Amino acid sequence: MLNQRRADGTLRHLITLEGLNRVELDALLDHAQHYVCALGARPPMNRALAGVTLGNLFTEPSTRTRVSFELAARRLGAEVINLEVQLSSRAKGETMLDTIHTLESLHFDGFIIRDSQPGVVAHVAANVAPHVSVFSAGEAHLSHPTQGLLDALTVRQHKGSRFGSLSIAIVGDIKHSRVARSAYEVFTGLGVGELRLVAPPALMPASGEFPAGLRFSTPEQGLAGVDVVMMLRIQKERMAQADIPDGEEYFARYGLTLQRLRLAKPDAIVMHPQPMNRGVEIDSAVADGAQSVIRDQVRNGVAVRMAVLESLLRPRLGRA
Ligand code: CP
Repeated sequence: MLNQRRADGTLRHLITLEGLNRVELDALLDHAQHYVCALGARPPMNRALAGVTLGNLFTEPSTRTRVSFELAARRLGAEVINLEVQLSSRAKGETMLDTIHTLESLHFDGFIIRDSQPGVVAHVAANVAPHVSVFSAGEAHLSHPTQGLLDALTVRQHKGSRFGSLSIAIVGDIKHSRVARSAYEVFTGLGVGELRLVAPPALMPASGEFPAGLRFSTPEQGLAGVDVVMMLRIQKERMAQADIPDGEEYFARYGLTLQRLRLAKPDAIVMHPQPMNRGVEIDSAVADGAQSVIRDQVRNGVAVRMAVLESLLRPRLGRA
């Protein structure tokens, strides 16, 4: 595994949340909370990263992650270039590393990368110049670290920081989900009391993964008494073929309806990383209902990415 740290132990890259200790996770969440503001208020801005140039390189679609990383960088005074990969020379066969080295020659200081191939983000991080940082914006089915942090921040805002007293259920296509893997890393790192995995057999991860997770094959069992319900969409783009019921039948067996939500605690919150497939994994009455914090997750995305960019880039700028 790539070492994401500098020689002094500080984080230089963020490829995964694996290996971050509770102190580091709490510090990033505290830092992010400082940047959270109410909708309609003027968002916090400063010049912490003035003079820094970042590249957004996304080879998979994104709405939330790409826009919020860009906003986060701009609100810290950095310059951001969105590289349209299909319009770049990668479309003519240039390798990812040749693209990266070209951008390094143009004085880029960091790269925000989403890629469908496992290992690409770490490969770039292992080959950039020593002053350059790499931030994962989602790597295959493996990792989506800033999503994990924004999910944890959302839970903390609604349930407090005593994670040990919480029961969290992740429901749906866990097998193909980078969101679930990063959620597992952050919630176990924060000492969550109970983490449940609720999925049909075809969408349950292999037995060696998620070792601390309690496995349930039906929402009726898995949702009973939980504090947090995190729904996931079926990621058809990551499966050649799976033995799962389609649309209506999946909704009938696994979709989160108001009736199923009543199995959780009365004050349980409902989360979804989005994009959502309404009527497949979640009913609109739940997604838009009183217990939904899905829009808070999106809002927290900018704050978390500001905290991550500032925390990782500022040490090398000598602006403590
Ligand atoms: N949650 C998430 O990663 O959304 P996007 O794919 O829109 O970035």
